[in-house]
Amino acid sequence: MSDSGIGFSVKRFVIFIVLCAIAILVFEGMGEVGGNMIKDQVSRTTSKFHPEKNVEDRIKPAFVLEDKVAVASAASDSDASTADLWTAEDSCEQVIEGNDMLQFNIKEMKVSAACASVTVTLKHTGVMAAEIMGHNWVLSSDANFMPVATAAAGAGLENNYVPVGDDRVLASTAIIGGGQEISVTFSIQGLSAANAYTFFCSFPGHYAIMKGAFKVID
Ligand code: CO
Repeated sequence: MSDSGIGFSVKRFVIFIVLCAIAILVFEGMGEVGGNMIKDQVSRTTSKFHPEKNVEDRIKPAFVLEDKVAVASAASDSDASTADLWTAEDSCEQVIEGNDMLQFNIKEMKVSAACASVTVTLKHTGVMAAEIMGHNWVLSSDANFMPVATAAAGAGLENNYVPVGDDRVLASTAIIGGGQEISVTFSIQGLSAANAYTFFCSFPGHYAIMKGAFKVID
């Protein structure tokens, strides 16, 4: 037992070394966690403004779309006739507005079969550029709406997102940006009150929301 003091010191020394090792590991771990947190924060902050990252987030309507949809569904629940709020007057001259929130202001157009020609004027009431939030007005039969809308993305902005030489496109305007206005005049002689037609914006992704019924009435 005479060397118990030395044995005790050795034990303490070993414990001290082990504690040191644990402390070093803990500090390294904390450093790594902290470093990663900073790295994450930096990448989140900088990628927000990167031209090729988070594009969807930046052009996504923040809240107004939900508002409008809620109002529209509430109205149609209470009274079916209030759907006319979204319907343009029966006229050979149609005016429709598009905005920065991916919306047309009407969901239905009615034109008389007696119209010698129909003029549709599209006004972009927003401020965003054509490359970011461009709108056009394209008309096709209901049956051709989806195929044309899908093919439109491949046509590119240089062709106003309208398939070139595609006779499924009954009428179309160029793509415009915020503050701009454009018109198209076309004959509806080939259209029939018996058929269903759809108008839409062919800017990629917009047709899902920016569309409506084009009705020819006798
Ligand atoms: Co559009």
